Amino acid sequence: MRVIETVDEFRAATPVSDRPLGLVPTMGALHDGHMSLVSRARAENATLAVSIFVNPAQFSPMEDYDSYPRDMDADYAILDEAGVDLVLAPTTDEMYPAGSHTRVDVGSLSERLEGVSRPGHFVGVATVVTKLLSIVRPDTAYFGQKDAQQGLVIWRLNADLNLGAQIVLCPIVREADGLALSSRNAGLSADERQAATVLYKALSATGNMETGDAGQVRRRMRAIIEEEPLAALDYVSVANPQTLDELDVVTGPALALVAVRIGKTRLIDNMAIGSKA
Ligand code: PAF
Repeated sequence: MRVIETVDEFRAATPVSDRPLGLVPTMGALHDGHMSLVSRARAENATLAVSIFVNPAQFSPMEDYDSYPRDMDADYAILDEAGVDLVLAPTTDEMYPAGSHTRVDVGSLSERLEGVSRPGHFVGVATVVTKLLSIVRPDTAYFGQKDAQQGLVIWRLNADLNLGAQIVLCPIVREADGLALSSRNAGLSADERQAATVLYKALSATGNMETGDAGQVRRRMRAIIEEEPLAALDYVSVANPQTLDELDVVTGPALALVAVRIGKTRLIDNMAIGSKA
């Protein structure tokens, strides 16, 4: 496995012939959720690249950029073990050199849900993912369904800017009690970790609904979260899975989404509901 810190060196190392080339973009602090993307990407590609970059542009000044977990040595060891060929681990100056100014804004998709709670977040994500796809030029890039809105934003920018990658969203990996794996779970105390199961409980209360009143589902999810004293509700949503427009009635495929703050940690989760047809 080669660890590369600069864009020029990465470009020179990117194979022309050993394709397909897969990319798993990450911010490090790798857990089994990331590794499920890595193992799928390993199975589907001749060459596999993983990027590790904690992207300051997607954190607002009030957020946890400084305290975001980082453990490069542990990350390199598990990526090597998983058979990764190339790791791109650029510095912030390498990704955003002095004078760099261009930002990518996908518009309305990024202005709802997470976009309301985290202003500017998706411009940061869209900009760095556009840069990573341009640097690596993968045939396929893999992301987690846990960040459902991020997945839609990335699908949109890849299509709109003709970046030519296939975007694959991989299923959420959960602990035995339903908590979705996230690097942020590391910041939970034992009590908070227990309280964090409330996200999955709320989503499960949708009862895998096929059709029905979306407002009632939102109320049920909200009531479950409000019963947990350590949880502060940010939003619940029952939305169209492509546009994230809030639904009045579920008549087909839909997405239930929740965001909750537990202590200093903000957690999100989602579940596909509605008839699959
Ligand atoms: O999901 C993440 O870890 C990040 O948002 C991503 C896609 C690597 C961009 O920084």
